[in-house]
Amino acid sequence: MYRIAPSILSANFAKLGEEITNVVDSGADIIHFDVMDNHYVPNLTIGPLVCEAIRPLTNAMIDVHLMVEPVDRIVPDFAKAGANIISFHPEASGHIDRTIGLIKEQDCLAGLVFNPATPLHYLDHVLDKLDLILIMSVNPGFGGQKFIPEALNKLKAVRKRIDESGKNIMLEIDGGVKVDNIAEIARAGADTFVAGSAIYHAGKDNDPHRYDTIVSALRAELDKV
Ligand code: DX5
Ligand code: ZN
Repeated sequence: MYRIAPSILSANFAKLGEEITNVVDSGADIIHFDVMDNHYVPNLTIGPLVCEAIRPLTNAMIDVHLMVEPVDRIVPDFAKAGANIISFHPEASGHIDRTIGLIKEQDCLAGLVFNPATPLHYLDHVLDKLDLILIMSVNPGFGGQKFIPEALNKLKAVRKRIDESGKNIMLEIDGGVKVDNIAEIARAGADTFVAGSAIYHAGKDNDPHRYDTIVSALRAELDKV
């Protein structure tokens, strides 16, 4: 089962509510919510207040990708704001196991995120506590970057580890996902696909059904896998 997770980083923030409703109506499964702090990454985006504001608009899971340092202080705020999944970067947490525990105590699913150059050894002792592993196929901080092909090898390695563990862990890819590479990414083992610019920059701005075509095109590619 494949899940498409539009990243609202590339949405039109002047009409964010509509942008979320429209993308879910077009068949998106998950709302990917990028949180940047101008410290861990060189960009600044949205926080718990925005999460709380969009929560009533959809039953889709809100997948909060924290690109912030430190991590722990902000976790309960996102849980209260209605996040379903909270993911963080191991380099941004002083105590990775503690942060995972904190997320789960808040009744959220916990994800660990790997930058392009971050080694997978962070999984060694916590894999069975995770609900999601997110492989970055760009360096975090901005939408619209080019997919880094080495991420495919990383996905294969993580897929193997998840399968060997026998656990039900989502394997998500984030960065540069497009119609022309999503099938190859799925073959490498991903089951959850973040797509920001590919979805939100598609179609005509005044068309309420603008996302139907792109979400169907992504699904059609996944059907071929
Ligand atoms: C980058 C973010 C991504 C970003 C992806 O730091 O984590 O979620 O929105 O955007 P695209 O799909 O345009 O590469
Ligand atoms: Zn992201």
